[in-house]
Amino acid sequence: VLVGAVVVAAGSGARFGGPKQLCELGGRRIVDRAVDVARATCDAVVLVVPPDADWTVPDVHAVAGGATRSASVRAGLAALGPAIEIVVVHDAARPLADEALFDRVIAAVRDGADGAVPGVPIADTVKQVDAEGTVTGTIPRDALVAVQTPQAFRADVLRAAHASRPEGTDDAAVVEALGGRVVVVAGLADNFKITEPADLDRAGAVLARRAVAP
Ligand code: C5P
Repeated sequence: VLVGAVVVAAGSGARFGGPKQLCELGGRRIVDRAVDVARATCDAVVLVVPPDADWTVPDVHAVAGGATRSASVRAGLAALGPAIEIVVVHDAARPLADEALFDRVIAAVRDGADGAVPGVPIADTVKQVDAEGTVTGTIPRDALVAVQTPQAFRADVLRAAHASRPEGTDDAAVVEALGGRVVVVAGLADNFKITEPADLDRAGAVLARRAVAP
């Protein structure tokens, strides 16, 4: 089964205050770290970059992204060849995903799921609030997980789910909307998304810890 990866790196980094994918983390760019783990675990990799990008990753096929994350995923999907049967979508902003995590989501799709996403337990209690800020409900935490990328899908299912150009904050949501069966595999607490500048310090600490791990 041929596995293709779409690494989305076409965001502007508005909350970060600039193109975070080019920031260095432990001596290497965030985008390079995300691409490397995709290359190590998938047969083909497409990198989605901002339309006006003046940077590349050597030896990786790059295409221009769109105005939203979903549009950028579609641009990447269109560039993956028709022989690809499993697609893994990964945010370049998560440079700390490891190969084992990619392998877990891919294995779950090989085993028959339409999609597989990494999930981690939620530490905080989650509340529903109305526009005035009044709490309208508390959602039982044991039924919730926070999901990450990489997310793996049957290629035909993901292509069908994106055919109507839906917008979602992740790809599992568009597959779920079509009735696909998405399963959760064990996520990685360290695989957080670099969103704010302080996240770089936190990521650096993770790398330092990994460097001394036995
Ligand atoms: O904005 P957010 O943090 O949700 O972005 C998640 C990932 O999607 C990032 O890697 C970002 O570069 C990518 N993205 C994209 N195209 C967009 C918006 C976000 O590729 N238009």
